[in-house]
Amino acid sequence: MNNKKVILELLEKNREKTISGEYIANMLCISRNIVWRAIKDLRKEGYSIEARTNKGYCLTGTNDIISAEGIKAYLSAPELAEHIKVFSEIDSTNREAKAQAVEKAPHGTVIIADHQTQGKGRFSRSFYSPPGTGLYISFILYSNRLGFTNPTSITAYAGLCVCEAIEKICGFEPKIKWVNDVYLNERKICGILTEAVTDFESGNIQEIILGIGINVSTKTEDFPEDVKTRAGSLYPDGKPLITRNHLAAEIIDCILNPNMPTEPELFTRYKSRLFMLGKDITVIQGDSTYAATAIDIDESGALIVKNQTGEIKTLTSGEISITPM
Ligand code: BTN
Repeated sequence: MNNKKVILELLEKNREKTISGEYIANMLCISRNIVWRAIKDLRKEGYSIEARTNKGYCLTGTNDIISAEGIKAYLSAPELAEHIKVFSEIDSTNREAKAQAVEKAPHGTVIIADHQTQGKGRFSRSFYSPPGTGLYISFILYSNRLGFTNPTSITAYAGLCVCEAIEKICGFEPKIKWVNDVYLNERKICGILTEAVTDFESGNIQEIILGIGINVSTKTEDFPEDVKTRAGSLYPDGKPLITRNHLAAEIIDCILNPNMPTEPELFTRYKSRLFMLGKDITVIQGDSTYAATAIDIDESGALIVKNQTGEIKTLTSGEISITPM
């Protein structure tokens, strides 16, 4: 790793604290002049690093630039950072992850962007991904490395990881709308798109591309017209109290956890986050819709609903919306 990256990691690990130039220079066996040049380069990249007389350098809390070093500072195990790739702008992190999966990128590769120009949503929709205010992250996961019997369980697990990470570092209690939209204050703050790379010969799922988009500090009025009434952010006033690096690290820790829960535990935790059980909903399947009541989820995460004639149906895919009162 080059000096600048090591210095950034050190500053990120010690946010708001002052580290002396002498300490950094001794640690890296470099001159204080080289330290100063690295600090100057980091400032040019947008980092606000204060130089405090006779004390040293301090990365201030106002900085929210996504970097592998910044994420590493919060990860529980440094090896989780081995395959993190950060882009300031990209068309879609899922598209990039898929391309890298085809090139046999390892399990646990993480692609993150500050801005997506063609963020993809479910059902061929687009996902609004402006610069500076969101977290757009895709994982390459090998299905044989996941603890689940059914590889599609990763979708529910991702929703759960997002909720738990937000609760841990922001103190909010987000909820899940089946299958995996994450809501806060009745607005969607996160969408998840899982795609499979299948082996052409056998038809088996080999790699899973798990894409997560979180609106961190996008202001409500800045969302496009078509989603403005439904989309929300963790900090809709545009003033985040956490960094995206920290949120990314918590989610990476959870998704790449070698001790991920098995399905019974996963769906118990997942169910406790669902906010539509017992409610009247509209089921959307392809071009058709029907009214129903959400009853429960089964042990595989399928949604059990009762339609208006009293018939019980088990939904493994599709979309629902809450019927307005
Ligand atoms: C949805 O709500 O329909 C799913 C949205 C998924 C968006 C994420 S952002 C990171 C990853 N890259 C993409 O292009 N899409 C997913």
